[in-house]
Amino acid sequence: MQTYRIPNTDLDVSRLSYGTWHLGGSWDLTPPAPDLYDRADRLVQVAVEQGINMIDLADIYTRGKSDTLIGEVLGRHPSLRDKLILQQKCGIIVGNDPNQGDPGRYDFSYDHIIATVEASLRRLQTDHVEILLLHRPDPLIEPEEVARAFDELHRSGKARYFGVSNHSVWQIELLKRYVTQPLVVNQLELNLIHHYLISDGIVVNQEGYTYTGSDGLLDYCRLNDIMIQAWSPVAGGKMFNPPANAPENVQALGRLIAEMAQQHQTTPEAIAFAWLLRHPAKIQPIVGTMNADRLVDSCKADTVEPSRIEWYRLLAAARGKSVP
Ligand SMILES: NC(=O)c1ccc[n+]([C@@H]2O[C@H](COP(=O)([O-])OP(=O)(O)OC[C@H]3O[C@@H](n4cnc5c(N)ncnc54)[C@H](OP(=O)(O)O)[C@@H]3O)[C@@H](O)[C@H]2O)c1
Repeated sequence: MQTYRIPNTDLDVSRLSYGTWHLGGSWDLTPPAPDLYDRADRLVQVAVEQGINMIDLADIYTRGKSDTLIGEVLGRHPSLRDKLILQQKCGIIVGNDPNQGDPGRYDFSYDHIIATVEASLRRLQTDHVEILLLHRPDPLIEPEEVARAFDELHRSGKARYFGVSNHSVWQIELLKRYVTQPLVVNQLELNLIHHYLISDGIVVNQEGYTYTGSDGLLDYCRLNDIMIQAWSPVAGGKMFNPPANAPENVQALGRLIAEMAQQHQTTPEAIAFAWLLRHPAKIQPIVGTMNADRLVDSCKADTVEPSRIEWYRLLAAARGKSVP
């Protein structure tokens, strides 16, 4: 698989990354079910066989079970650790943690960031992650605290590079005033159904179109050498074989994806991922399937390059209308 160099790092990452949101199954505090160890092992092996060298994690994913399973895979195959780029996310606390009734919340305090990373490293059976992201913007952020935590993690070698997820232009600017390390990644929701990061750019100052206020975020990231990663890159599979009661644009998109897959002699998944890869911003989608065959089908995107006409045709189908 082709790679991207993440700007301001020495990391060459595969164009597709592999996500672990669903890896641990349930979101309760029980340990991973026994069969999930072998499944995680198989999925990581298939990902590596396909050329993926980056794993996306978050301390909260399946309440730590996703970390634990990746740690177990690394424990079973010690030579794998040096081949993989681990990206961890921190800063979300789920509801009812630690007490029943506690609200879901964000916490970018020094203590929370440090404690989260240290707990994740124990579960991952490693002494560092390559990249640490702030998962979702915390309205109570004190950027000096984030800067202090990043400095400490950088100094101790527990995290080599830093970035954000779901952050706006101005939230990144605020952080940059205090954080001394470059922010190298912004992980954002982006796919053919949730296309706003791209389509906001073509409806600026136009009446009658959906504008979600991304405020030039895509161009800002390009200008500032921040790699965009696309989360939920196939919108949870909604764009493939949509049911008859799905919105008309989603049905039309499903038909077009199937037709293009036939024309390119590839899979529908490859078309959906190739639409993201075709964008010159060098967007890195994070594959989320727990199905090994679909993982292979998704990686076929690396060899598909939609033409400009095909790219716009997919966008028009997804939006239900052409560009203004
Ligand atoms: N930063 C953030 O806030 C954030 C938020 C969400 C996710 N993420 C990251 O992004 C990764 C990917 O997100 P995601 O899991 O939502 O991605 P996704 O790939 O858009 O969705 C995965 C889901 O779609 C299903 N699916 C995939 N292909 C399908 C197909 N051809 N037909 C039917 N269903 C299909 C999968 O089911 P099967 O498993 O059965 O194939 C799975 O349930 C996560 O693992 C996580 O690392 C980050």
